[in-house]
Amino acid sequence: MTSKTFSAACIAAAFLSPAALAAPQFSFDAAQAPQSGDLVLYVGADGTLSPTASAIDATTGNRITQTMAVAGFEGGFGETLSLVAVGAHDHVTLIGIGDEALTPRKLQDLGGHAAMSADDSDGLSLIIDGLAAGGGDAAAYIATGYALGDYAFTKYKSDHEASDPDTVRLIGGASAAAKYENDLAYLVEGVELSRNFGSEPGNALWPEVFVDTVREAFRGVPNVRISVLDARDIRREGMGALMGVGQGSIHDPRLLVVRYTGAADSDAAPIALVGKGVTFDTGGISIKPNNGMWLMKSDLSGAAAVAGAVLAAAKRGEDVNVVGLMPLAENMPSQDAIRPGDVLTSMSGKTVEIMSTDAEGRLMLLDAVHYAQEKFDPRMILNIATLTGSAARAMGDDYGAVITRDISLSLEMMEVGKAAGEDVWPLPLHPSHFEQIKSDIADIKNTGGSPGASIGAAVVGTFIAEDLPWVHLDIAGVDWLDSRTPTTPKGHAGWGVRFMDELLRRESE
Ligand code: BES
Ligand code: MN
Ligand code: ZN
Repeated sequence: MTSKTFSAACIAAAFLSPAALAAPQFSFDAAQAPQSGDLVLYVGADGTLSPTASAIDATTGNRITQTMAVAGFEGGFGETLSLVAVGAHDHVTLIGIGDEALTPRKLQDLGGHAAMSADDSDGLSLIIDGLAAGGGDAAAYIATGYALGDYAFTKYKSDHEASDPDTVRLIGGASAAAKYENDLAYLVEGVELSRNFGSEPGNALWPEVFVDTVREAFRGVPNVRISVLDARDIRREGMGALMGVGQGSIHDPRLLVVRYTGAADSDAAPIALVGKGVTFDTGGISIKPNNGMWLMKSDLSGAAAVAGAVLAAAKRGEDVNVVGLMPLAENMPSQDAIRPGDVLTSMSGKTVEIMSTDAEGRLMLLDAVHYAQEKFDPRMILNIATLTGSAARAMGDDYGAVITRDISLSLEMMEVGKAAGEDVWPLPLHPSHFEQIKSDIADIKNTGGSPGASIGAAVVGTFIAEDLPWVHLDIAGVDWLDSRTPTTPKGHAGWGVRFMDELLRRESE
């Protein structure tokens, strides 16, 4: 490491400071009308008020029902109406819940709507006793959505006041405290870790910083083992593709491996989650145009999501064995960088001709998935990456792209995504995609034919046993949002933490 940069450990510590990981605090209270402070009332279809909301309406001379009638507020899902100076309450926000079943996903969205339209700096209570149809844990999902929607990356704002937010009270949610505190709060933490990684600029985050930050986040969590391969180890294992991507940067590559053994049978085959962690993607010698290049600070979204999902599962003690593998590198042009036309030898022994140094993510993944199979004999591999602009154009902000060898697995993943609140949609993988990456002088080339998301998947798939269930997620479109949704502010979405979290819940013993 040169003296041009700050120490990685010092930067990692700043990353995890309380201000950087500031999820709001919640208090899960019995149903009783608050005497003061701002309120959010969840209102049923046709303006039906919960018992507590009705009591508040009565003490304020029916201001709430009158305003709903005048404004034509119907309580449709996510419909919002803001009132000021209602009795002793400065702000009262009405949020409609509609008349459809309240799934955990919908409850999270309703929590996110509250985060969007209310301010928690002045004592905020969410009146949720009308959400009984969402089950006894409804308040825990509301809190989760609120916390996710409340996220902001403020550490570089010099005028930002790090005020302690008041505790947000969930009135009528007393039964949900344990579900939040022992389970979903860790999911929030995992998403926040992932968003922080994706938001952090390249001059503050490189492979070593990522590793130190993850170590710190997992400190003291039971049944977790972390191992890190540095550049020497990567070379010794023969991972020429991963090494090739990282060799143009002053920051050496790493392979970070986090194992969590939570199943009753600690020897049961794990699920392997493999995430692309390019801390900045310039394109390398095949350099990218400047327009939009700044966004390549978030080209580690896959690795960030894996770190977050494994953190959440381990902290809540999920009954599952999982190994998270995060190949980390910075893709830079320099005299040490790989060139188009170079041939790299992967850990598997297969050789790869470089047609574009900008198709670097697949190079890192192919060594990491091979390593995963060699060392951990997993029962399933899921890899997740901001791999192609083609997936981003096809899917926009709406869907992650899912590619499998077997469409039924893709359909299963659509169900996982639907439950998690992170949707995926399938793209094809055809024998022709494997044909198109045949090289004239090496075993394969890193791009070719008509390059797109499926070609990227075929490169990785070449290194995965054909009989192993394999899910390829290309999240180049969804990882970054240009405009917010209820649970995801504009910016880095932390996409994939909730998806993999849901998958691990379903795969738990
Ligand atoms: N990290 C990019 C993909 C990307 C593009 C992510 C836009 C997010 C937004 C990836 O490494 C890349 O450069 N892919 C190339 C591959 C091509 C050279 C075969 C692409 O998609 O253009
Ligand atoms: Mn690239
Ligand atoms: Zn990339």
